[in-house]
Amino acid sequence: MSKIILTGDRPTGKLHIGHYVGSLRRRVELQNSGEFDKIYIMIADAQALTDNAENPEKVRQNIVEVALDYLSAGLDPAKSTLFIQSMVPELTELTFYYMNLVTVSRVQRNPTIKSELQMRGFGDSIPVGFFTYPISQAADITAFKATVVPAGEDQMPMVEQTQEIVHKFNSVYGETLVEPKILLPENQSCLRLPGTDGKAKMSKSLGNCIYLSDEPDVVKTKVMSMYTDPNHINVSDPGQVEGNTVFTYLDAFSKPGHFERYNIGYANLDEMKDHYKRGGLGDVKCKKFLINVLEEELAPIRERRHAWEKDIPGVYEILRKGSEEAERVAAETLSDVRKAMKINYFEDGALITEQAEKYR
Ligand code: TRP
Repeated sequence: MSKIILTGDRPTGKLHIGHYVGSLRRRVELQNSGEFDKIYIMIADAQALTDNAENPEKVRQNIVEVALDYLSAGLDPAKSTLFIQSMVPELTELTFYYMNLVTVSRVQRNPTIKSELQMRGFGDSIPVGFFTYPISQAADITAFKATVVPAGEDQMPMVEQTQEIVHKFNSVYGETLVEPKILLPENQSCLRLPGTDGKAKMSKSLGNCIYLSDEPDVVKTKVMSMYTDPNHINVSDPGQVEGNTVFTYLDAFSKPGHFERYNIGYANLDEMKDHYKRGGLGDVKCKKFLINVLEEELAPIRERRHAWEKDIPGVYEILRKGSEEAERVAAETLSDVRKAMKINYFEDGALITEQAEKYR
């Protein structure tokens, strides 16, 4: 069986380093591993509109931002198909058919939907489109017969929902759709990178993000004001590394080579943490090291971004070509689906003969 990846992001803002360690970095590795037959990376504008219906301009502006972030992070249009969700209308039609296979109470039990509804404060005014986005996500995934969905933990319920739809569809209409698996980030810190203020999640509205496109001085300022251990007042005080954002980021970003290159005096992160816990290691030293570590990863991304920024029409061209290819593939799946559901009337010679027989 082919190994196929589909994943994507809503274009509601530039991507930050939480997106990067949570999924984007992995996608680039998977892309370059050569292990996959096809890789589809989708800018989920239609999904973004499910809770930004009154903000189309925001979604429109951020498509190119997300595309720039993708390209600068190392996604290569020669190896991965980058496309825009709404440019593939087949996805909406699939969604409509899948809706019949899912109950309202099942969506209500989706933990991600639950917390998002609460966060957005919709109260009794939940847009139907927003409520059904997990079903549309099943269409996104199955349209490309994806076997692997590299994504963050919050996408787990969506992939589970997709698996259920696949089972239900295949058992009702016959073996047609392919069941996907989620591929989560390898370590806990990457699973959910906290904001620079130590809050559980990086989010634009909280203003606690480091963006992939931030310039070095911005990254530096953000790291220097980062949340650490509030009880670590004097350098000699014992410090706590759990819940200490600087150490969480080091968990997500540092590699053995960094300790050598920056000559920080520890062989690895565990030694550094031990010293911090014992007391005697100051926050400023840790932060300066983190800045170096981050810069090593962000500098090449920033450089590639600056190059792509000079060719915006080229970026749109990549998305246009990718969307055309994505549409071809989704149309094939839709055709399989219509056939399985027996709604391919004009292609169904047997149906026409059968009806003709009936009236003979
Ligand atoms: N829900 C994802 C996000 O919020 C975007 C998305 C849409 C997606 N469809 C998808 C992710 C399919 C993985 C697979 O960023």
